Amino acid sequence: MKLFHQLCVCALAVAAGASTQDVFEPADFNVTEALIDNGINVSTIPALAGLAARSSLKGCSIACNSLKLVFGAAKVSSAAPTTYWSIQQLEVEPHCTFKPSTALDVSSLVLIARLTTCPFAVKSGGHAAFPGASSIEGGITVDMVNLNQRKLSTDKKTFTVGPGNRWKEVYDYLTPYNLAIVGGRAAYVGVGGLTLGGGISHHTNEYGLACDNIASYELVTASGIILTVSQKTFPDLYWALRGGGNNFGVITAFNYETLPQGLMFASKRQYNATYAPALFDAFGNAVEAAETDTKAAHFVAVAYSRGVKIASTEYEYFDPVDPANPPAILKQYLAVPPLTDNTRNCSLADTTPGLSQSMPDGFRTTMWSQSFKLNTELMKRMTDHLFKIAPGIPVGSPSVTFQAFSKPAIAAMQKKGGNALGLRPEDGPLFHALFYLSWTDEKDDKVVLKAAQDFLSASVAMAKELGAYNDYMYMPYSSPYQPVISGYGAENVARLNKVLKKYDPSGVFQDLQPGYFKLDGGAPYGQVV
Ligand SMILES: Cc1cc2nc3c(=O)[nH]c(=O)nc-3n(C[C@H](O)[C@H](O)[C@H](O)COP(=O)(O)OP(=O)(O)OC[C@H]3O[C@@H](n4cnc5c(N)ncnc54)[C@H](O)[C@@H]3O)c2cc1C
Ligand SMILES: *[C@@H]1O[C@H](CO)[C@@H](O)[C@H](O)[C@H]1NC(C)=O
Ligand SMILES: *[C@@H]1O[C@H](CO)[C@@H](O)[C@H](O)[C@H]1NC(C)=O
Ligand SMILES: *[C@@H]1O[C@H](CO)[C@@H](O)[C@H](O)[C@H]1NC(C)=O
Ligand SMILES: *[C@@H]1O[C@H](CO)[C@@H](O)[C@H](O)[C@H]1NC(C)=O
Repeated sequence: MKLFHQLCVCALAVAAGASTQDVFEPADFNVTEALIDNGINVSTIPALAGLAARSSLKGCSIACNSLKLVFGAAKVSSAAPTTYWSIQQLEVEPHCTFKPSTALDVSSLVLIARLTTCPFAVKSGGHAAFPGASSIEGGITVDMVNLNQRKLSTDKKTFTVGPGNRWKEVYDYLTPYNLAIVGGRAAYVGVGGLTLGGGISHHTNEYGLACDNIASYELVTASGIILTVSQKTFPDLYWALRGGGNNFGVITAFNYETLPQGLMFASKRQYNATYAPALFDAFGNAVEAAETDTKAAHFVAVAYSRGVKIASTEYEYFDPVDPANPPAILKQYLAVPPLTDNTRNCSLADTTPGLSQSMPDGFRTTMWSQSFKLNTELMKRMTDHLFKIAPGIPVGSPSVTFQAFSKPAIAAMQKKGGNALGLRPEDGPLFHALFYLSWTDEKDDKVVLKAAQDFLSASVAMAKELGAYNDYMYMPYSSPYQPVISGYGAENVARLNKVLKKYDPSGVFQDLQPGYFKLDGGAPYGQVV
């Protein structure tokens, strides 16, 4: 009885083939009966019994008490998770925190949330930069920390990773096999949010984003069904998950395609900001050169750190490099004299602690993002503007990080049916700016957010003047004051909504899981006022 719900649907999916199963929630769907299929008899839970027939009461205390009764105190607590990157997320107080350890637990959670109409939020690594993204005031925070499996397939072609994992432990597991997956660059970022929003990796020029290199997802739908989603089984949903964020279900496992990766080259450098223009020129040339050499990754950042203007970079290459005789694509960069550098050959895993250290947890944070056509003049103007406004912003070191979406990277995003981001190779190459601020005092929230919004508007205006504007915003770096999904383009927004209607006709992941970027396309928090 317990597994009937899942087995029945899997059998159906297999028997029916790729696209003929098109009812994921019948019009007369009965949540109580779905819970019975999951082994939870609502009539035996006093608090839920009264809700079985009418499911309109908003009852997070009922939901949390019922979860405790069914799953025990080890999986349900009244305390919020303590492992958020941003202080604003840490300050959110859920009614309870649920820590599922199986996909079936997640299925029952979704159904109980529906029955009680108690809103929930899903948390993987907790690195989203704003409150309510993976936390929820008064609702159920679903902490995926115990879904932490790591399993290499027998043929070593795929690697199954639970959303309880962070990138360092993922790469550490693969290092002895000389393998990697396309994933994040910072040690403690979670696999969940990064992969669902895209996933910029050292390997992106060659392979595309993390979301472009998924063999399959294990996903819990709004009706509590557990699906294995691949391009073959559910191509429409597979496409939507490539950049669609948390709008389509809860992912209980990501099954990544592996790639060969041994020792690599890594270099993190700091420079006198007078070299910023030289670095931007090197950046532009390296973005173009990616068309003949996809093994390099690089970014340039500028920051105003306690009164000092600095530039910094990170370079990676798939193979070890002799800095005296580097591959052509890195030559111009490496010729710029640094103030500090830690050039080395190391494992992919060992490249990751650096980025987490340079963006530490424990601060109030905001991140804003925008893409532009490759234009080094715009990068210079944005830098000048940053240095002009920085002294007036009450934060430690406001920074802008410039990253490329090269032509080969965008081309790699088109494989296996493409992703939902709306980036076309003919529009490339593009670059992407991340504006990142961190501070400590809550009283500064408004003025900092306003400064960030103004900086972004000024950048967009400068870009339009130079003919370099591009709609797309990178979800994992975007603020809740930006209309991220709209930036995917009208056609993709319509297609995403069509997928939503099919897999989640009642809009459970839009209404009951309100946090983060939703398919109405709007900025979740409107404008900073
Ligand atoms: C220090 C630092 C370094 C970074 N480096 C990179 C980088 O190299 N490349 C890059 O692309 N981005 C990078 N980012 C951005 C990063 O991808 C986002 O912050 C991302 O949201 C983090 O994922 P998470 O799982 O830790 O976050 P969370 O806050 O846990 O999740 C973010 C969103 O995803 C949803 N979500 C998470 N897991 C699931 C799931 N299993 N099912 C359904 N929904 C889910 C959550 O509900 C939430 O809305 C970095 C961020 C920081 C702070
Ligand atoms: C659920 O529990 C009630 C009360 O104990 C019982 O009468 C009923 O048969 C149970 N239903 C199922 C499907 O087990
Ligand atoms: C759902 O199913 C339960 C158990 O079979 C039944 O008691 C209840 O009336 C049904 N609810 C709705 C809304 O149909
Ligand atoms: C950067 O270079 C300028 C011009 O040479 C010099 O005036 C300034 O002191 C340098 N700054 C640092 C931090 O070295
Ligand atoms: C990295 O490896 C290259 C190629 O083997 C070698 O020439 C270089 O010296 C190594 N770099 C360091 C810092 O050891």
